[in-house]
Amino acid sequence: MKSIKRRTFIKSAILGSITSIFSSNTLAKMSTPQEVEGPFYPITPQKDKDADLTKVKGKNGSAKGEIIEIFGQVLDQNLNPIEDVTIDLWQANSFGKYHHPHDTSHAPIDEHFQSWAILQSGKQGKFRFKTVMPGAYPLNRSDKRTPHIHFKIGKLGYISLLTQLYFPDHPLNNKDGLFKSKTTQEQTLMTAKKTNKHNEYQYNIILEKV
Ligand SMILES: [Fe+2]
Repeated sequence: MKSIKRRTFIKSAILGSITSIFSSNTLAKMSTPQEVEGPFYPITPQKDKDADLTKVKGKNGSAKGEIIEIFGQVLDQNLNPIEDVTIDLWQANSFGKYHHPHDTSHAPIDEHFQSWAILQSGKQGKFRFKTVMPGAYPLNRSDKRTPHIHFKIGKLGYISLLTQLYFPDHPLNNKDGLFKSKTTQEQTLMTAKKTNKHNEYQYNIILEKV
């Protein structure tokens, strides 16, 4: 009897720890954290807002910098895909310059970089875009923003999301005031994952129902 009791105890202890792993795995129930919009949401109209930010329609040439591809899915908190979500994204060019009249830094404009895109999530909430690794840019004499991409995401029935995507293991992440202010779990949700494919990242976006 004793050994049966012991086995039952071990079994329930194992089951208990599995259950607690699942219940502590609250990432699935969390939504992508909100972040500030920043001062450089595009205000200059542009026609070309497609999913290839490395080319500007009507111009020959490609954006300078490291070309990367980012793909993912827009999901609800139960990880069901959400289709037809508007994904509005903007970022600094590879020199850390926003193509925005209020960016007064001396970093150069890249005339072949699109800098802004508006996409729709398609079947299974999927999206993909091609861009360049955004440059870090100085906030003041001592602080820099780590590379990031801004997102504004909207869908009827869900809370609008303003957020920023970060890149895994970037040395500036842990020096970035905004990134550091997030919990580890929030940082995980805001950081794209490197895939096995060269220069490709996966980034899922989780929206919260209204
Ligand atoms: Fe920014």
